[in-house]
Amino acid sequence: MLTTRLCRLLGIDFPIISAPMAGTATAALATAVSKAGAFGMIGAGADPDPTWLLEHVHAVREKTSQPFGVGFSSAFPGLEKAIEAALDAQVAAIGHSFVDPTQLINQAKGSGVKIFAQVQTMANAKKAVTAGADVIIAQGSEAGGHTSHLGTLSFVRAVVKIAGDIPVVAAGGIADGPGLAAVLMLGAEGAWIGTRFVASLEWAGPEWAKGQVILADVDDTILTKVYDLVSDAPYALDVIGDRVISNSFTDTWHGREAEMMTRQSELMEDIASATAAGDATTAPVRAGTASGLIRSIEPASYILREIVSQAEDILRHRPQKLLGG
Ligand SMILES: Cc1cc2nc3c(=O)[nH]c(=O)nc-3n(C[C@H](O)[C@H](O)[C@H](O)COP(=O)(O)O)c2cc1C
Repeated sequence: MLTTRLCRLLGIDFPIISAPMAGTATAALATAVSKAGAFGMIGAGADPDPTWLLEHVHAVREKTSQPFGVGFSSAFPGLEKAIEAALDAQVAAIGHSFVDPTQLINQAKGSGVKIFAQVQTMANAKKAVTAGADVIIAQGSEAGGHTSHLGTLSFVRAVVKIAGDIPVVAAGGIADGPGLAAVLMLGAEGAWIGTRFVASLEWAGPEWAKGQVILADVDDTILTKVYDLVSDAPYALDVIGDRVISNSFTDTWHGREAEMMTRQSELMEDIASATAAGDATTAPVRAGTASGLIRSIEPASYILREIVSQAEDILRHRPQKLLGG
């Protein structure tokens, strides 16, 4: 059976963590992932009010005693109360992303709650190592949603080389068993997966967005700042963009951001009504390049079993073939 140091650290069977997608990785997805033997995350995102988060924490606990965590988009201001609430709730792990994680790691010391630091740059990876993160998530540019410019392959490998005993988990572009096997070969201890779970029954976003992921090819996404700029999202400079499925809105405005901002309030309204109407020509669908590997919406438990059994099969048979055995 495929097992890694991450499995032993977290008390899970499969070396997979579901990404904490803000507001759409809810109790339903975290429960399904944790019950199936991987590590489920609730996406608390940028909400400073912990009420929603705590409701979802309790909802997972009603359904399973398996470990799970919550993740924040930690570049946003005003998250102190929500982070305190997650620590007090004694979830198994808290994920922080898009910031220098030092102070957030120090804050959790002695709490019994593990800290996952999702990093996009070598500078923040080094800070996570120095501060003693429990797990470092090395997120490459293939990832859906907010990310930076480094490709997963070389970034994960570079983080593994500086991480010492801290397990590194790869994020960005992994949607199937070959992807998991590949990052394990780089020295990662597991995969942190978002886009594949967008196309799951339990993802709480709209069905039309799941449909867009199924239809997209690997080259149908774009890393852009257009939606962040229009909505004044305060992402750190390390985060160079937001990977979404390309559409008429990104075709029109990516590269013409200054002109776009002269029409900010009108465009904000357009995006809000397109989102309400399920109009993917204007509304953002956050998804990574791995969309091109995904062709069906499945239960999370099925997705996990399929990824792990494919990875086991590859790891068992391919080395022998490659080495002439
Ligand atoms: C729909 C969506 C929403 C996301 N929201 C967040 C978020 O709120 N906080 C966060 O840290 N990462 C977020 N991410 C990024 C994931 O944490 C993760 O790095 C990424 O999904 C991994 O790459 P993959 O999409 O290729 O699996 C999001 C990703 C997606 C696809």
